[in-house]
Amino acid sequence: MSLALHHHGPDSDLPLVLLHGFPLDSSMWDDVVSHLPDLRVVTVDAPGFGSSPAGSAVSEALGHPRRPALTTYADAVAAALDGAGIGRGVVAGLSMGGYAVLALAERHRGLLAGIGLLDTRAGADDETARRNRLKVAEAALGAAGSSAVAPMLEKVVGPTTLAERPEVVERLRAALAAAPPGGIAWAQHAMANRPGRLAVLRDLDVPALVLRGAEDEMSPQAAAEEMAHALTDVEVVVVPRAGHMSALEAPAEVAVALHRLHERAAQR
Ligand code: MLT
Repeated sequence: MSLALHHHGPDSDLPLVLLHGFPLDSSMWDDVVSHLPDLRVVTVDAPGFGSSPAGSAVSEALGHPRRPALTTYADAVAAALDGAGIGRGVVAGLSMGGYAVLALAERHRGLLAGIGLLDTRAGADDETARRNRLKVAEAALGAAGSSAVAPMLEKVVGPTTLAERPEVVERLRAALAAAPPGGIAWAQHAMANRPGRLAVLRDLDVPALVLRGAEDEMSPQAAAEEMAHALTDVEVVVVPRAGHMSALEAPAEVAVALHRLHERAAQR
């Protein structure tokens, strides 16, 4: 009942591990990975997405309570990496993937040689956001199915992508239409249940990257600055002409930033 890992590039002792955003899967990173041919990259499917088992099965396998939680996702990532012989890596996540990186930093600090927090935030949801997540989860498990997440399309990419990158918009539209209802519901509950984890960053002494698309309205600059101020060794990157899905909208720029993070971690 292990999470699905996808291995790319040459073997090395220090892989770059990438955790995708909601409600996509590890293929979200394909274009970024194609810009990192010299790095060992491991992409992970979150519980209920891609080739990974459902969240309830992952909780059961770990002996966790059934209540969906990012901590279950984080423990499952650590277990899957351990199963693949990976005891240490540079781990980066976009949005929901970033929430999982924060949970890893809380529970599996020794695994992290560096962290990347992309288009994400360390604060918990407010009550309105939490209620909205529960509505989306309920709709996904009901008549709406995958279409419960269709309205996300225009929010997750920036205006530049909407105007100038029709292939990215179409790819995302197709990914949202194919998003698994069970995965949507589990992840929405897990994200609604997550606590704020800013304090976790305060005593994390590894190289860090905080990156956001300049047009990301879902993870505002203030949230990025809050995380950056909590970190001791951090590079902040703002990717122009990209929104919340920076890895899809500007993969070359995101790959350069991740490569630099990996270099900083390898030099430690
Ligand atoms: C994501 O891209 O993973 C989502 O925007 C996360 C969220 O809903 O907070």
